[in-house]
Amino acid sequence: MQEQISQIKEKALEAIQNAKDAKELDEVRVQYLGKKGELTLILRSMGGLSPEERPVVGSLVNQVRDELEAKIEEGEKSFANKAIEERLATENIDVTEPSKKMTLGSVHPITQVVNDVKDIFIGMGYQIADGPEVELAIYNFDKLNTPPDHPARDVQDTFYITDDIVLRSQTSPVQARVMESQKPPIKIICPGSVYRSDSVDATHSPVFHQIEGLVIDKNISMADLKGTLAMFAKKCLGEKTEIRFRPHHFPFTEPSAEADVSCFVCGGKGCRVCKGEGWIELLGCGMVHPNVLRNCGIDPEEYSGFAFGFGVERIAMAKFGIDDMRLLYENDIRFLKQLR
Ligand code: DAH
Repeated sequence: MQEQISQIKEKALEAIQNAKDAKELDEVRVQYLGKKGELTLILRSMGGLSPEERPVVGSLVNQVRDELEAKIEEGEKSFANKAIEERLATENIDVTEPSKKMTLGSVHPITQVVNDVKDIFIGMGYQIADGPEVELAIYNFDKLNTPPDHPARDVQDTFYITDDIVLRSQTSPVQARVMESQKPPIKIICPGSVYRSDSVDATHSPVFHQIEGLVIDKNISMADLKGTLAMFAKKCLGEKTEIRFRPHHFPFTEPSAEADVSCFVCGGKGCRVCKGEGWIELLGCGMVHPNVLRNCGIDPEEYSGFAFGFGVERIAMAKFGIDDMRLLYENDIRFLKQLR
């Protein structure tokens, strides 16, 4: 029987050697090691052997099986490698073939301005705050010292969802929300969309963007406001930019002012961008009204603060020399490409 086993081994090794591909190798496996394979049959027929012979033959069969399995595995590996090499040789890439063109988008001018402004104020230690666009009228108006008979509350100006809920007409309600939820010192800016019942034209849109600023601490004065805005104007519009204040009225600030910047195109001489004025209106601002502080749980005897708010579109239009606001919303790539 041992003789028979070694003959099977020789035959199998030869067959493995001669196998031309993985399929033939598999046939060899089945022929010798499969359920009805030649070597397997020997194991099955061991019942007829004497108890002394059995372990000897058994271990020989196992040894041969291990050896054949190893050889078959080796053969399989080399066939697999060969297949990879063949693929590598045939499937080479033509690097001279023109590629598909990728078109890269750009940051929208409004987002560019918002990002610039954020950077500038973060550099001055401000945090970015956020608030809802569908806002309670209390936050949009009442807490900001804007009484029910104020013209801004008219349906001609404001979109009402119910009598008590509006699409915020300004980013100022975020001031009230921040004051209610944080203790001074507070230093925030809040960029976001605002909504007004305006018809679309070259300078109006029912949806536009504002950035609100608020600082509350002990001993904050108008000088801090002026210094902050002067610094902001230089960083945002150029080092030569000057700022001037004009008295104004806002219900939530006292005193209130509008701030203009010297025209960064002509430097103040008067040109098309500043409409011959030499100055461009930039924003509304003032010292936070004591009523507003009180409405939001802050003691006006202990704390004071300033606030400001401005339209992002106005800055984007001035900065990029755009004369029609609608261009900012049409998303015409030919236009946007010029403002990268
Ligand atoms: N909310 C004002 C507006 O929409 C802008 C503004 C003015 C905001 C003065 C302020 C401020 O915080 O102090 O016209």
